[in-house]
Amino acid sequence: MVMEPTVAIETLSLNKTFGGVVAASNVNFKVLSGEFRCMIGPNGAGKSTLFAMLCGIETADSGQIFVFGQDVTHTQAFKRVRLGVGLTFQTNRAFHALSVRENLAIPQASARLENKEVGQARLEFALDAFGLDPNDEIKAAELSHNQLQWLEIAMVLVGYPNLILLDEPAAGMASEETLRTAKVLKHLNSTGLTTVVVEHDMAFVKDAAQTVTVLHQGKIFAEGSVADIIAHEDVRRIYLGRA
Ligand SMILES: Nc1ncnc2c1ncn2[C@@H]1O[C@H](COP(=O)(O)OP(=O)(O)OP(=O)(O)O)[C@@H](O)[C@H]1O
Ligand SMILES: [Mg+2]
Repeated sequence: MVMEPTVAIETLSLNKTFGGVVAASNVNFKVLSGEFRCMIGPNGAGKSTLFAMLCGIETADSGQIFVFGQDVTHTQAFKRVRLGVGLTFQTNRAFHALSVRENLAIPQASARLENKEVGQARLEFALDAFGLDPNDEIKAAELSHNQLQWLEIAMVLVGYPNLILLDEPAAGMASEETLRTAKVLKHLNSTGLTTVVVEHDMAFVKDAAQTVTVLHQGKIFAEGSVADIIAHEDVRRIYLGRA
C-alpha cells in the first residue's frame, strides 16, 4: 500500500497587495511533511510577505492557507503556533536587553507539549551544535552576530514546532558559519522537522535544499531541484545572473 504524503503547508490562490504593490499573486505553494525547501528570489519578490501570511502576521487579500490539513486562513498567529508552525524573522527579534536564558524562556509558554520528546531533542541538538548555553546569563546584546542568529533559531525550537519558516537565517554570516547553519538545519530536518528557508546564499541552497521555489514579483516563477533551478535560463536572468 502506498501512503499518501502529508502536506505540511499549502496555499491556494493567495493574493496580497500593499497599495499598488503586488506582494503575492495567485500563489499556490505546497510543502510536504518532512521536506527541506528553500525559497529564493530578488529583493521585493514577496518572500517575507508569504512567510508572514503563512504564520498569520499578515492577512491575505484572498486565497486559502492550510497547515497540516487544517484551514488556517482566518486563524490567528498564536493559534497557528499551537498547530506546529514556527517562524523566524528577517530582522533578528531576540531581546538584546535579556540574557540568553531569558530569551529562551519567553517562547516556552507556547511549547507544544504533545511534541515534547522530539522537540526537546531538537532544541538540545541545536543549542549544542551552535555552542549556546541555555543557562547563559550573558545579555543577547553581547553575543556575536552569528550567535544572535543562532539564538533566534533556538528560540523557535523552544516551541517544539513541526514546521519551521526561517527568513534568511544565515544573513550576514561568513561562508563557514553559513554552512554550519545549513548542517544543523539539515540534521533537524532529518528528524522529521519540515523546513522552509528563504536564503540568498546559493552555497546554503545547494547544500540544504531538496526543492527550490523561486518567487518573482509576487508569483511562483519556477520550482524544481537545485540542479534544475541553477540551470533554468529565466531564473538566471531574473535572479542568479545578478551575482
Ligand atoms: N508592510 C508593508 N507595507 C507596504 N509594502 C510592503 C509591506 N511589506 C512588504 N511590502 C512590499 O511588498 C513587496 C514584497 O516585499 P517582501 O518583503 O515580501 O519581499 P522579499 O522577497 O522578502 O524581499 P527581500 O529579499 O528584500 O527580503 C515589496 O515591494 C515591499 O516593498
Ligand atoms: Mg524578505
